[in-house]
Amino acid sequence: MENIITEISNCKAGRIMVVDDEPDVISPLCEMLTDEGYETAGFCKGSEAIETLTKQEFDLLITDLIMPDMDGIDVLRAGLEIDPNLVGIIMTGHATVQTAIEAMKAGAIDYILKPFKMENLLPVLSRAMQIRSLRAENLQLRETLAIHELGKAIAFSSDLNSIMNMVADAALLQCKADEVSIMLPTADGKNLYIAAASGSERAENIGIHIPIEQGIAGWVARNHEPVVLQGEVNDPRMAPIKPRSEIHTAVSMPMMSSGKIVGVLNVNITKNYRHFTMGQLKALGILVSIVSPILEKTQLYIQLIKSVEDTVRAMAMIVEKRDMYTAGHQERVANLAVNIANDMKLSEKQVNGLRLAGIIHDIGKLNVPSEILTKPTALNRIELELVKMHAEAGYNILETIDFPYPVAQIVYQHHERMNGSGYPRALKGNEILIESRILAVADVVEAISSHRPYRPAQGIDKALKEISDNKCILYDPTVAEACLRLFNEKGFKL
Ligand SMILES: [Fe+2]
Repeated sequence: MENIITEISNCKAGRIMVVDDEPDVISPLCEMLTDEGYETAGFCKGSEAIETLTKQEFDLLITDLIMPDMDGIDVLRAGLEIDPNLVGIIMTGHATVQTAIEAMKAGAIDYILKPFKMENLLPVLSRAMQIRSLRAENLQLRETLAIHELGKAIAFSSDLNSIMNMVADAALLQCKADEVSIMLPTADGKNLYIAAASGSERAENIGIHIPIEQGIAGWVARNHEPVVLQGEVNDPRMAPIKPRSEIHTAVSMPMMSSGKIVGVLNVNITKNYRHFTMGQLKALGILVSIVSPILEKTQLYIQLIKSVEDTVRAMAMIVEKRDMYTAGHQERVANLAVNIANDMKLSEKQVNGLRLAGIIHDIGKLNVPSEILTKPTALNRIELELVKMHAEAGYNILETIDFPYPVAQIVYQHHERMNGSGYPRALKGNEILIESRILAVADVVEAISSHRPYRPAQGIDKALKEISDNKCILYDPTVAEACLRLFNEKGFKL
């Protein structure tokens, strides 16, 4: 089979498939139709015609009614199964009302009596082509609407993985394809890696890297052009890294935003010999044009969040440098808090905010003299009051930073307790942010189970007993239960 590198274009000639068991009917009819500007293909057997329909696209099917291997009604039904937009016309020498009803029921738009004259057939064909283009437009409209709906859904998500999974599923559905993958460029632009996959047995490929200088997707990424391939790839410019003979038809589309490549969408058909229709390629083009800028923004947002996290971690290290006994405490608290929040199905945004707040929740301890922080004996009342000031001091430091989450407030409230016995403002119940209620539980569990300057580690069992005993009194019951579930049922370890 040949390779075809295709520009997606609008123009396509009307293609007519003629099926009749008498070659004497096929040849003159095909010749006459060719003279009228149609592209034609004639078949004596219905089964051969159907086989061809799985590999090639036709606009119209004109089929004889009575044939020895498959009758015209069966050919039409099978044809419509393969291409629901195929427009069928039945030819018959023995028309009855019953024949007409049967033909229409099978999905034919008309039937013509043999022998017929060309001047009688042409108006039928012209009406059939109008129906074909209306069906194609309808389909395209439906596809475009579905893609716009998808675009709206994606616009509200900042989760790169769920965006890409939605896009991969949509491409699979639109193209009735067997495999879809989305590849993203690595930060240095030297490789592409599979970031999402949909369809049969492709999930195990997620994470695989390929050099951008190689393969079909690499060519697409470098040249910013789509490629439609049919059959084995023999083009030296884009030799596949791993040739796969089971791919019959494939399209690779560049995902571009602001003139830059942000990804490559690959769609493969492996289970039959069908080609992509022009409508499907256009729909993919629309999908890619809607999604690419969103993908770029999401990638930038993720980079931004990562750099905020890196900054926050650097700040956390400053706190822990002064208080070596609690080194790693904030990171472990953040990790437990995130796991509790995920168990409670908090939103992605809340979880991200909680992670940041957890990593840095004791930053206010910068205001506490380090002799107090590292004092090996119990603190006196004044020292305790000084330590308690760290919640408000943390708030004062963090409120000056414009986080996309309420990090400063979460830190401010992480020592508040459900019954109002906490500090610094003695908030109660729902007055306390849910993120702070989670952080409080995570903080207590980590603190009790770890070593402190004034006492040895007391172990996780003692920590969980504290949470269980004071559930509803000091700690939010839903948070406490999620925490206990993590350790007791889900095998979580600090
Ligand atoms: Fe604290």
